[in-house]
Amino acid sequence: MKLIFATNNKHKLEEVREILGNQFEILSLKDINCFEEIPETQSTIKGNASQKAHYIYNKYKIDCFADDTGLEINALNGAPGVYSARYAGENCSYEDNVQKVLKELKNETNRKAQFKTVISLIINKKEYFFEGKIKGKITNNKQGTSGFGYDPVFLPEGYSETFAELSAVEKNKISHRGLATQKLIKFLARL
Ligand code: IMP
Repeated sequence: MKLIFATNNKHKLEEVREILGNQFEILSLKDINCFEEIPETQSTIKGNASQKAHYIYNKYKIDCFADDTGLEINALNGAPGVYSARYAGENCSYEDNVQKVLKELKNETNRKAQFKTVISLIINKKEYFFEGKIKGKITNNKQGTSGFGYDPVFLPEGYSETFAELSAVEKNKISHRGLATQKLIKFLARL
C-alpha cells in the first residue's frame, strides 16, 4: 500500500520507515517531486498536522499522512510548543533552539517537559488523528550525539540516557512519534 508521508525531514522519514517496516511503501515528498514549502500556519500541533496532510492530499490526490510535533516545557508555560522548529527565530538551527532552551531554563529547578506528536491521516477521503506523548525532563547540558532537534537535552521519564544517547530503535519504541506511529499502524492494519 502506497502512502505519502508529507515531510521533508530525513530523520523523521527514516524513523517512520523503520517502524512501518515492509508493510507499507512510504513515499516522501521528494519521491513525488514535491519540493515546495508546506504551510504550517495553525496555532496548534493538531491544526498544523491537519493543514499539511490536506495540502498534500488536495494537490496529489494520494492517501497521505503528516505529523507535527512540539516540545512542551512546563516552566515555560508549554513553550516552545507549536513553535519548536523556529524557537530561536526563522532559519535557526537545532543547536540554536537547544541553546535557547538551556538558557531559558538556567537556574530553573522545574525541568519537566513532554514531547507531543499528532499525526493526521487522510485515507479513503476521511481524516483520522493519532497522538503520542512522552514525559521527561530537560537536562542541564547536552548529552549524546544521535537523533536530532532537542534530543540531546530530553531525558525520557524512567531513563538515565537522553534521546540522543539511545539507539534509533530504543527511541522509536518510546518516543512521541513512535507511539503516534504505532497507533497509525494498528489502524492501517485493520483496514
Ligand atoms: P515538526 O514540526 O514535527 O517538524 O517538529 C518541530 C520541531 O520539534 C523540530 O524542528 C525539532 O526541533 C523538534 N522535534 C520534533 N521531533 C523531535 C524529536 O523526535 N526529537 C527532538 N526534537 C524533535
